[in-house]
Amino acid sequence: MEQYVIKGGNPLVGEVEIGGAKNAALAILAASIMADETVTIDNLPDVRDINVLLGAIKGIGAIVERVDAHTVKINGSTISGMTVDYEYIKKIRASYYLLGALLGKYKKAEVALPGGCDIGSRPIDLHLKGFRALGAKVDIQHGLIAAEAEHLKGTHIYLDKVSVGATINIMMAAAMAEGKTIIENAAKEPHVVDVANFLNSMGAGIRGAGTDVIRIVGVEKLHKTEYSIIPDQIEAGTFMFAAAATRGDVTVKNVIPKHLEATTAKLLEVGCEVEEFDDAVRVVCAKPMNHTQVTTLPYPGFPTDMQPQMAVILGIAQGTSTVTESIFENRFKYVDELTRMGATIKVESNIAIITGVEKYTGARVSAPDLRAGAALVIAGLAAEGITIVDDIYYIERGYEHFEEKLASLGAQIEKVSSEKEIQKFTLKVS
Ligand code: UD1
Repeated sequence: MEQYVIKGGNPLVGEVEIGGAKNAALAILAASIMADETVTIDNLPDVRDINVLLGAIKGIGAIVERVDAHTVKINGSTISGMTVDYEYIKKIRASYYLLGALLGKYKKAEVALPGGCDIGSRPIDLHLKGFRALGAKVDIQHGLIAAEAEHLKGTHIYLDKVSVGATINIMMAAAMAEGKTIIENAAKEPHVVDVANFLNSMGAGIRGAGTDVIRIVGVEKLHKTEYSIIPDQIEAGTFMFAAAATRGDVTVKNVIPKHLEATTAKLLEVGCEVEEFDDAVRVVCAKPMNHTQVTTLPYPGFPTDMQPQMAVILGIAQGTSTVTESIFENRFKYVDELTRMGATIKVESNIAIITGVEKYTGARVSAPDLRAGAALVIAGLAAEGITIVDDIYYIERGYEHFEEKLASLGAQIEKVSSEKEIQKFTLKVS
């Protein structure tokens, strides 16, 4: 079992390059099977979730050619099965995007009910409501979601809750439905826009992505395209917060600063300096940080995927802060781990009340999920002494070369897989 071992205390300094957005890439890869011509996708992050989904796409018979670590060609003309195996679904929730893609293209799909990071109950009722509204018959039996339709017909769909997954899944199916679909109360996240842009580059008729009303005129066929995925706003935010926690000076490159506004606003509130360039942001945090309040909200609000990283910096900011989680109810599982590093955090319902301490102290902790895992690494980088983070396979689901990128900024961090390697690292850094 691999772990990260970290000697904290070094301010991160330098430049780091951000990769393609994992959550956009997952949906775009699924959507790529909707064309019968070869689709080329670039700026793909080379992370575990992406590789699992490519396996699922191969599994239904599409041709998947990995040109290099960040480029893939997919051809959906050879698809022979409409059933996505539980093996894939249990590893990544987002393979449910194949439901919308297969249903749109073939009017038939069978996908196992999803698993994924355990950050709270994650129903998919809104996805299914959308498919049903488009005219599909949807059944759940033996752990499988089976959706089928003679024809999909455009319709008016109101989402009761803002859902990234439901918006994208319905948008994909509606892209190849007959007539016009309107999705109201749609999610506005940058990756929703990216998926719409991708589908449009294949000939879809989607307007309004990025607002809360998306209008789709269905088309019969989608064609080949070459597309580059947007930068990952969460990876970027994670490095920005790592800079802050270590009192560093980091320029985060290959980003869209507009997508980082909520993250930037919180860094300014705690007293860091953030300089924006066309495609980069520089975070400098020399002074002690101040307390603040944050509530997670759908985009353009503060992202729930940055909530644990935010809590980590507030844990060493002066005064008492609150973090309110309004999207997923089980996203404070890292609190016990952070407490072991010296944090003072009390969780009441969906609010974490954080009283800042002067510093964290290194400890052995476990990553409970992807983003909380990254947050614990940030805490380790800021802590006095040695931190060992277990269960880093969660982190590898979404961060490419995480430890290498951090090390290039001056962090003392290594990926290890035995006690002997931990001892070797400890001797080296002491
Ligand atoms: C996506 C992201 C995830 C991020 C989340 C919120 C991917 C692969 N994952 O997850 O990293 O944390 O957006 O930004 O892109 N809900 C329902 N019924 C549904 C669907 C959702 O009640 O059918 C609820 C969820 O329980 C949650 C809220 O809606 O409370 C938002 O979830 P959603 O936006 O759908 O998250 P995901 O797409 O799963």
